[in-house]
Amino acid sequence: WYALVRETRGMPWRKPFDSKHDRAQRAQRAYEVWISEIMLQQTQVATVIPYYNRWMGKFPTIAALAEANMDDVNTLWKGLGYYSRASRLLAGAQKVMRELGGYLPDNAKDMEAKIPGIGRYSAGAICSIAYGEKVPVLDGNVHRLLSRFLLLHANPKSKATLDILWTGAAAMVDVKGYYEDAGYQNPGDINQALIELGSTVCKVQNPTCLSCPLKDHCSAYQKSPSTSQIPGPST
Ligand code: ADE
Repeated sequence: WYALVRETRGMPWRKPFDSKHDRAQRAQRAYEVWISEIMLQQTQVATVIPYYNRWMGKFPTIAALAEANMDDVNTLWKGLGYYSRASRLLAGAQKVMRELGGYLPDNAKDMEAKIPGIGRYSAGAICSIAYGEKVPVLDGNVHRLLSRFLLLHANPKSKATLDILWTGAAAMVDVKGYYEDAGYQNPGDINQALIELGSTVCKVQNPTCLSCPLKDHCSAYQKSPSTSQIPGPST
């Protein structure tokens, strides 16, 4: 089912994971995925694509971004909203160049601790996609999908629920044999497939369960095809 992301669907930040990349090439991928993930935080894929392309045209590397001034960055961001995202990107690039040897950290724990604006979700997305680290993601989409998959009737925002869902998300990227059997090398493929399934199939309203590749294993679907009774958070 995670063959979903074999297709890039026009998303320029999606490139095949290459285990032969060296540290510098991986850090470059991390930069690209970082920019895309921050843009995607409050904005839809179709809107983000042209912004991402313009951004990469102007700031192709983290070193180029670190040299920019806030006005240039804001000009490129104009229309995306939530401008604090843009200022944190600039601050992060400057910190990486000044204090971290020019490379974004190569694991989710350090990335979350050291880069402004990166929380557990973004650190997991960037490090699984760019570095192949086996770390989970849980955004609103994956939260809803897993709540249904596990038939979890509980307060969607409680600490206990979040702990269960992060554990479930971790299990999704840690299934033995997944990568090798499917010719995949990257937990980032699984994470992106979960995000994409959550936003395109396992939608808040009227999920299209019949076309879901997970329906045979989905507890909510197996119990009753009307899975939208388990909403999860609406974000
Ligand atoms: N939303 C957040 N990250 C994404 C990704 N990598 N692919 C598609 N949609 C996303």
